[in-house]
Amino acid sequence: MSRERKILELKEKIDKARVGGGDVAIDKQHQRGKLTARERIDLLLDKSSFEEMDMFRTHDCTDFDMNKKKILGDGMVTGYGTIHGRLVFVYAFDFTVFGGSLSKTVAEKVVKVMEKAAKVGAPVIGINDSGGARIQEGVDSLAGYTEIFLRNVLYSGVIPQISAVVGPCAGGAVYSPALTDFIFMVRKTAYMFLTGPKIVKTVTHEDVTAEELGGADVHASKSGITHFTYDDEQSLFEGIRSLINYIPQNNMEEAPVIVNEDPVDRIDEDLNYLVPDNVNKPYDMKDVLMRILDNSEFIEVQALYAPNIMIGFGRLNGKSIGVVANQPKYLAGVLDSNSSNKAARFVRFCDAFNIPIVTFEDVPGFMPGTVQEFNGVIKHGAKMLYAYAEATVPKITVIIRKGYGGAFCVMNSKQLRGDIIYAWPASEIAVMGPQGASEIIFSKEIKAAKNPQEKLQGKIEEYRDKFANPYVAASKGYVDEVIEPKITRYKLIKALEMLANKRDDNPPKKHGNIPL
Ligand code: HXC
Repeated sequence: MSRERKILELKEKIDKARVGGGDVAIDKQHQRGKLTARERIDLLLDKSSFEEMDMFRTHDCTDFDMNKKKILGDGMVTGYGTIHGRLVFVYAFDFTVFGGSLSKTVAEKVVKVMEKAAKVGAPVIGINDSGGARIQEGVDSLAGYTEIFLRNVLYSGVIPQISAVVGPCAGGAVYSPALTDFIFMVRKTAYMFLTGPKIVKTVTHEDVTAEELGGADVHASKSGITHFTYDDEQSLFEGIRSLINYIPQNNMEEAPVIVNEDPVDRIDEDLNYLVPDNVNKPYDMKDVLMRILDNSEFIEVQALYAPNIMIGFGRLNGKSIGVVANQPKYLAGVLDSNSSNKAARFVRFCDAFNIPIVTFEDVPGFMPGTVQEFNGVIKHGAKMLYAYAEATVPKITVIIRKGYGGAFCVMNSKQLRGDIIYAWPASEIAVMGPQGASEIIFSKEIKAAKNPQEKLQGKIEEYRDKFANPYVAASKGYVDEVIEPKITRYKLIKALEMLANKRDDNPPKKHGNIPL
């Protein structure tokens, strides 16, 4: 064969591989309202940056006449490219080939990019749209999944792992995304569940659609499985590109620093008046964040799940920070099982990837009641405590208003190795709120009083004057400084600069035993 012929042959093969399951299957994919694997990669990566690997791999299954149905690439597109110029690895299930099902070959391709990503220290992004295990391959497919799960676990905390779920993701296949750091889902076409509607009907007699059982909105608000939700795939991939800006390539690096044009010493007078005088009146903690972070930019993670706590990424003087903030707008910002879980995992992500954590605290305590206790709020709250305690990245707290009880201890207090604890002047730092405290410690006096209600009010005032302020904590060094709210941005930036070279560690051990 001539040299020209050989090159032509290569080009033909490449063209063939690029259409995956063929034009008819591609049309069908579009009719389903979904993009193809390659279209998705184009949206995700910088223009023309994609370098494909294993384009010509095929499966080696011979059962069910499968040897007659070999498609170049075998329903999986893998490779590497850049996002904003930074290296990332990617794998995308191609639904046009055997419904994007996972064969032994598909699994080997995924494992190959995961291993490369770990070796060179770059994020890996998986794009999921798959009918699950390749039924014709049986147990080989299950083994393939498990090879992927193993790498998800081994590389957890080593390289950032991100999942896009843009089609079906069912059965055990859900566990790979679940093991990754962030899941992005699209509405209407994506769903994740362990068992589909038909089996649900048989076992529990529930009538439920795929969307109702495991659609993006369900996982965004009810289960908390997904971190980001979008109406269309284009916005979803833009979302992943934005997130990548805030996180480092691997656990040995720092997140990218961008040129900051928002003045470091910007003073925001409104901050002095933003929090209502009445401690029981809600306000939106997001307004506080918007006034402090660079350019009012905040990428909120799990915005619809356990909204009584907010987590997400922002920047201070161009440097990425992880934000944990109680949200008084919902349930007065109380801590409960879901919000503790949500914050704990985020704190661990930030710690694993060298992202300083800034905590904005306004917390009345842990949610009481049988629902929470039966649900294990003790163990869930302990997760948050554990996560903050073991974190060695710079950790700063700003106590905005309430810092009560166990919740005060948990939310990056001084004793959990909080590096700098600021408090605003109207904050109340105490074992509990003035009313509850007065009812307990002055109960005899109140009962004996001629007018118990008046007596109680007096005692509440007495308690508030004595303890419900930041100065007792400041006098003992539990709070480093009481600051005027309007200069919070400047103070945080200065503290972060001071902590930039912080080194801290934990006792040597195989691993701890977080209360799961
Ligand atoms: C092989 C599959 C497949 C699979 C779909 N296809 N799933 N081929 N193995 N798992 C093929 C179909 O035969 C069809 O081929 C093509 O992909 C497109 O599928 P459609 O059904 O036409 O598409 P759609 O109507 O969009 O439905 C998508 C679907 C459905 C909901 C995913 O295909 C489906 O229910 N598939 C089976 C899902 C499943 O039960 N998987 C196993 C789960 S158990 P043709 O040639 O007709 O175009 C599991 C265990 C993992 O995954 C455990 C890990 C630990």
